[in-house]
Amino acid sequence: MHNFDAKLLALLRGASRVAILTGAGISAESGLPTFRGPGGWWRNYRAEDLATPEAFERDPQLVWEWYRHRRAQVQQHLPNAGHTALAEMQRRAGHLTLITQCVDRYHQQAGARGVIELHGNLIESRCLQCGAQTEGATEIWREGLPYCACGGLRRPAVVWFGESLPGAALQQAFRAAEECDIFFSIGTSALVYPAAHLPHLARDAGAAIVEINPEKTPLTPQAHWFLQGRAGEILPGLVQAFS
Ligand code: OAD
Repeated sequence: MHNFDAKLLALLRGASRVAILTGAGISAESGLPTFRGPGGWWRNYRAEDLATPEAFERDPQLVWEWYRHRRAQVQQHLPNAGHTALAEMQRRAGHLTLITQCVDRYHQQAGARGVIELHGNLIESRCLQCGAQTEGATEIWREGLPYCACGGLRRPAVVWFGESLPGAALQQAFRAAEECDIFFSIGTSALVYPAAHLPHLARDAGAAIVEINPEKTPLTPQAHWFLQGRAGEILPGLVQAFS
């Protein structure tokens, strides 16, 4: 059991607004690979080949093969104790905004509400012709590619490198960062912008910054508390502070 600093617990109890940013590390204990950690996707594959608009133009079958594989992984695993603790924290806290870079929808599956998805999600796809965005069940697959009922090719409903983040989600996330008393950065390498900008925005606006990660990141020197360890082991204990 992690031993929490009394000052941090007091701050949590008194906080009226909490903002939380999560990254692939929150789902690591579920069995999903991260991007940059050991066994991470970008250790074995090049993002330019799988996660850019150019890659999709060049070889949509290859890109879809990867996303279908990741969808299958998400279906084969489950949210973990970290996801459950965050959903519970949200129920107990006065006002808690959950912002995620994850595309697995595990936060929602664990019961979190109003999750801001900065990088889209794996579950849905979007038609390049009519723009409709719906779940995979509506895809019509032909020769390794999914089509829309209108006949258009569908693409994964995720944000690729070189693309803008969904504007409304980003604005909501910025607002939550600026207005919170305490900001958590959990399971993210804090390297990919604009998501990585959020804790700095929160800090500049006077919030306390708490980082949960087994490894140090570029954010660590700026964090008021660095809780070193796994989210699924640390978060269940932290929930008690919100009772
Ligand atoms: P990364 O793979 O870059 O970082 C994962 C972080 O989680 C690392 O800092 C790990 O140390 C940490 N970690 C690993 N296991 C953990 C655990 N059990 N508990 C807590 N932390 C743990 O993933 P992201 O930061 O999410 O973008 O990457 C950001 C973006 O880059 C992703 O959303 C994706 C990727 O390319 C897009 O797809 C647009």
